[in-house]
Amino acid sequence: MTCDLPIGVFDSGVGGLTVLRALRRRLPAESLVYLGDTARVPYGTKSVASIVRYAMQAADHLVARGIKMLVVACNTASAVSLEPLRERFAPLPVVGVVEPGADAAASVSRSRHMLVLATESTVRRHAYARAIAARAPGARIDEVACSLFVALAEEGWTTGEIPAAVARTYLDPYLRTNGSSKPDTIVLGCTHFPLLEDAIREAAGPDVTLVDSATTTAEAVATKLTELDLLTSATGEGTVTLLATDGADRFAAVGSRFLGMPIAPDEVEIVDL
Ligand code: DGL
Repeated sequence: MTCDLPIGVFDSGVGGLTVLRALRRRLPAESLVYLGDTARVPYGTKSVASIVRYAMQAADHLVARGIKMLVVACNTASAVSLEPLRERFAPLPVVGVVEPGADAAASVSRSRHMLVLATESTVRRHAYARAIAARAPGARIDEVACSLFVALAEEGWTTGEIPAAVARTYLDPYLRTNGSSKPDTIVLGCTHFPLLEDAIREAAGPDVTLVDSATTTAEAVATKLTELDLLTSATGEGTVTLLATDGADRFAAVGSRFLGMPIAPDEVEIVDL
């Protein structure tokens, strides 16, 4: 039965495991196949043409394995390739992370002034700015590309003076504004940024709310599965299959931090796209 097929989830690397974690929590009976394109990460500094091509190849692989829904658990791939993916794989439902993140931001911000932290490609597309503006017309949305956060999260340098200084350098121009309006909400518009939450929170100060899209994406997936009558009929705990395009050892070591539980290298199957 289609409803008992797994949900396919893909990201440029291990960052999307934060979304996988939220999906497991929200939909424990669903089986999940996660593909991290670790051979080609990061996507955030690549051209649109390359990102779309990579996303299509990752989706082709998951669709060939048999999935009932595709979750694009990468902000950059969501910003750039959601529409081409939806067109190519229709009627397969395709859910990205930008729209749920924009929902969360629009519902949290009181002052309607928000700051989006994302990769270069996501910022260049103004994906969050457009999605938030559609939900909160007239809102002011500042965007800043924070490429170094990706490297820091990958290295596990998520606490201490270095991430704190990097966070201040990115955020200060938007937050230390000498009396003029400053954002009350920061959108963590990249899968890696929730790992740097402490450094970002410290740089932002206590009166700014941080939102990320993992939980709201899991909620959007649950709503879509229910609407389409695609919730699994299984009652036990669903299975999790982990695929990567390179480096099972590194995927396991770094990915454990994002998933919030240990991954053994032999649980990671290496695939060629
Ligand atoms: N997964 C990407 C994102 O959420 C971050 C890493 C990358 O640049 O590929 O935008």
